[in-house]
Amino acid sequence: MTPINLFLIGFGSVGRALARMLVAKQADLRQRYGLEFRLTGVLTRAHGLAIASEGLPTEDLVRVVEAGGRLDEFGRTKPLAQLDQNLRLAQAHVMVEVTPLNPRTGEPALTHVLTALEAGVHVVTANKGPLVYGYKTLRDLAAQNHLHFLFESTVLDGAPVFSLFRETLPAARLLGFRGVLNSTTNFILGELEAGKDLEDAVRAAQALGIAETDPAADVDGWDAAIKVAALATILMDSPILPSQVKREGIRGITPAMAREARGAGRPIKLVCRARRAAGGGLEASVGPESLPWGDPLATVSGTSSAIHFEIDMLEGLTLIEHNPGPQTTAYGLLADLIRATRSSAG
Ligand SMILES: NC(=O)c1ccc[n+]([C@@H]2O[C@H](COP(=O)([O-])OP(=O)(O)OC[C@H]3O[C@@H](n4cnc5c(N)ncnc54)[C@H](OP(=O)(O)O)[C@@H]3O)[C@@H](O)[C@H]2O)c1
Repeated sequence: MTPINLFLIGFGSVGRALARMLVAKQADLRQRYGLEFRLTGVLTRAHGLAIASEGLPTEDLVRVVEAGGRLDEFGRTKPLAQLDQNLRLAQAHVMVEVTPLNPRTGEPALTHVLTALEAGVHVVTANKGPLVYGYKTLRDLAAQNHLHFLFESTVLDGAPVFSLFRETLPAARLLGFRGVLNSTTNFILGELEAGKDLEDAVRAAQALGIAETDPAADVDGWDAAIKVAALATILMDSPILPSQVKREGIRGITPAMAREARGAGRPIKLVCRARRAAGGGLEASVGPESLPWGDPLATVSGTSSAIHFEIDMLEGLTLIEHNPGPQTTAYGLLADLIRATRSSAG
């Protein structure tokens, strides 16, 4: 069995959750799929870089970074300045891109993904930036180089959304969707209902590891808008930028408003919407809405997320993901890693 070498760019909540999952699932992956993954490169912003083409000690890397240490001591190869050189040194087969989201440009993740695909390395990512700012270019480049570019965990973390349409709904046309897609704001709205102010609620979300690196990206609806853009671009073939999504965040919602809405049986949710417009084009929005009980989106509480699809072949289809966290996102990455490498595994 030839091990599959992974280069992780980003070793935060999600990167480390994936590292732990690879250790926990090692025997299962070997037995069920004949797959063996090993980390041969890990690059961070402030915690250094480790490269060893024969494999890095995964659990030690996690422990050291969580104790605030640096990764450099683990490398047995001297890193070079450029990402493509480091991918080669690590003899990487797959790059996992899990750096923070930049909702306004998609960078530097977009360049990381482009570099890896140009260097002949498969890419799996949880970062929505490259999707909405470079999907067509990246998809075409991947196809041209016979590589995989997979991104299941960018929307609804570990739940199948992109693979649902790609693999299980042939010939279906997505007409529109509504969703509670940002776990952080849904959790914050729950905290507001319980009487916390916005700052305390954001801190609680950060403590759970679910908030974006810059929590304003959640609170102001950017993360939700970028998810709408990703879904519309990929599932509806209607490329749209996050700035073109009509967007209102949750800063205007006070604890009193949240409590009152909940008391009246119409909880406030940050609702993402997109629909094909009658005359062509797309109507897309993100904004707080007070939803009636009976609406499946109204029942989604805490960090849970949900999406309701309108499909020409089905009356409607709703997916609810309960209590996701970094480990759920890591599962979406693992599922993509298996997809990307299973066919080529020995
Ligand atoms: N958290 C979730 O549950 C979740 C769910 C779905 C999608 N996502 C997406 O997953 C990605 C990672 O999220 P996270 O929660 O793991 O973020 P995080 O905890 O903030 O970790 C980000 C990691 O990226 C590193 N980094 C930052 N800039 C870099 C650069 N220019 N080059 C190399 N490394 C860099 C950081 O290094 P330092 O530690 O040294 O600063 C850190 O290791 C984001 O794009 C996010 O949108 C996350």
